[in-house]
Amino acid sequence: MNRVAATRPDWSTAASWPARLDFLGFGGDYNPEQWPRSVRSEDIDLMREAGVSVVSVGIFSWALLEPVEGEHDFGWLDEVMDNLHGAGVRVALSTATAAPPAWLTRKHPEILPRLSDGTTLWPGSRRHYSPSSPAYQYHAQRITRVVAERYKNHPALALWHLDNELGAHVSEFYDDDSAAAFRRWLENRYGTIEELNRAWGTAFWSQHYAEFEEILPPRATPTSINPTQRLDFQRFSSWSLLEFYRGLVSVIREVTPGIPATTNLMATTATKSMDYFSWAGDLDVVANDHYLVAADPERHIELAFSADLTRGIAGGNPWILMEHSTSAVNWQPRNRAKTPNEMRRNSLAHVARGADAVMFFQWRQSLSGAEKFHSALVPHAGTDTRMWREVVDLGRAVRSLESVRGSRVDADVAIVFDYEAWWAIELDSHPSNEIAYLDTMRAYHRALWLRGISADIVHPEADLSRYKLVLVCSLYLVTDVAAANIARAAKRGASVLVTYFSGIVDENDHVRPGGYPGAFRELLGVRTEEFYPLLADQSVVLSDGSIGTVWSEHMHLEGAEALVRFTDSPLTDVPALTRKAAGDGHAWYVATALDSEAVGALTDALLTESGVLPAVQAPAGVEVTRRRRDDGTCFLFAVNHTAADATIACEGTELLTGVEAAGTLLVPAGAVVVVQESSLAP
Ligand code: GLA
Repeated sequence: MNRVAATRPDWSTAASWPARLDFLGFGGDYNPEQWPRSVRSEDIDLMREAGVSVVSVGIFSWALLEPVEGEHDFGWLDEVMDNLHGAGVRVALSTATAAPPAWLTRKHPEILPRLSDGTTLWPGSRRHYSPSSPAYQYHAQRITRVVAERYKNHPALALWHLDNELGAHVSEFYDDDSAAAFRRWLENRYGTIEELNRAWGTAFWSQHYAEFEEILPPRATPTSINPTQRLDFQRFSSWSLLEFYRGLVSVIREVTPGIPATTNLMATTATKSMDYFSWAGDLDVVANDHYLVAADPERHIELAFSADLTRGIAGGNPWILMEHSTSAVNWQPRNRAKTPNEMRRNSLAHVARGADAVMFFQWRQSLSGAEKFHSALVPHAGTDTRMWREVVDLGRAVRSLESVRGSRVDADVAIVFDYEAWWAIELDSHPSNEIAYLDTMRAYHRALWLRGISADIVHPEADLSRYKLVLVCSLYLVTDVAAANIARAAKRGASVLVTYFSGIVDENDHVRPGGYPGAFRELLGVRTEEFYPLLADQSVVLSDGSIGTVWSEHMHLEGAEALVRFTDSPLTDVPALTRKAAGDGHAWYVATALDSEAVGALTDALLTESGVLPAVQAPAGVEVTRRRRDDGTCFLFAVNHTAADATIACEGTELLTGVEAAGTLLVPAGAVVVVQESSLAP
């Protein structure tokens, strides 16, 4: 163990600086500290065999890099970095801050996170720190600087992987440091306590505050907590994690201004607490982790949803798939192994939806620790396995797709997605607790997926001008700016669908008076006087024979026409689905959760009206997308999730096999094809 400065090798003259990710990446998390040198040497040989081009290193290494405060041991990491460089593998180097070492939390126990009921989360796993702790911020930035200074000239360094899955496991922090930071954040947001009182509606239940110092995070309370306090705490929590990232990235940018930095997001998988749209501007490239939900029979459609959201967060730009699994994970109730070729379909489906790197957790399956039964590229059973053969094949496939890098996914449909609306709609004391924000959105996304239509999942204030169809699902909270943006899309010619319980409140969670759906009343030409939420086992029959669940409402037409009506008492003959001309486009409103067949029929009607077509006609279960380079070169992806061979119409070169497609191409059962199209698609 040595002090840093004394032992740092001189990499300053090494070739290929500055190293970047100038290739379609293939690799994953690499945790060499868990292995002896002999295994690490075999790792290098196997990485060459598999064509690994990038690995994330050092994510959970702090306790080994600095076992005692101020004393560092970089010998093993130097060797790993050098060996990776020798094998042509680039490194996404972590700041090692995702798990504080024991000496640090012993010295500063106030770093440990606290839950809303006061429970302290102790060391023994990982991520046991509060992002608002000044002591943790200080030490995290300090180790980041030490690591950055040491490796700033290393030729393998291509990307900074800051911390890891910020907000994973725990995303809201109720410790005293967080409480103090929350108060500062509120002061900054509202300026005066009067303004906060107005926004939080504190005339209710004697919640009025005389000064900011009286305010606490929404810790455990006897009954429903102030909803705006809750909403602001969610905003603050997302911001506090981002602010922690900003602290690290400021060090990184100072020490290595030429190296891009990112952190791995968890769009849809683990938590809803981080507003990733507000994070994107601080990431040099958006990176996402995705794990299949074993219990979901349509897990490949959920994968598409996550990828489409990641692309939306990335503003349509290519992104990095930083983690997924070769097979089973270890953290679901039943950890299902992937079937033959499923990994390939999963990985390439992410590429089909905009990923420019295919990375996994993790390189070699651990022998000890909580993740020893999590799959990896090198399984416990070694290389004479289906898994390893599929890994080597996938590496080859990724290399053959190099020309796809940098292209963008074609999408004529936008699905509007807002974290703040998600937080707000799922607060308590609402007409129904049955409304899960993602449910309706996933239902319409699924209908699009089944029809071969790609959708960008975008923020409500994003530029919607290029979309022919815009879906606004249960956007309960909406700002005036977002509502105007959505109305403008319709006026410019798009078809806009708004679903129930949208437009209800403003950004302070205050109801928009005069009738629902508040902010969208004029656009939709309807006015609802009362909600009739349905009980858990209740449904309603609509005039076209379809079934509604979860929701119904007493709606009046104010300029719209009724296409479908409720038929059951007490809402007999009340409109359930409406349509109104709006400028050059149309605005549709649906006042219930339609059954999946009806969602499909409505989707068909919307696609016809807006003139949106699939990337190519394909049989059910064959996922199709198109990526397009700036020079107009197009890549048609088809992922056959079925057990039957399929045929698609296309012309060009199939990149995985080199086969020429002249008119039609076979997509074998369970296989993926990627065609560089010879004629420019419209
Ligand atoms: C997350 C983490 C990894 C690992 C995987 C297991 O994505 O970032 O360190 O724990 O989960 O699925």
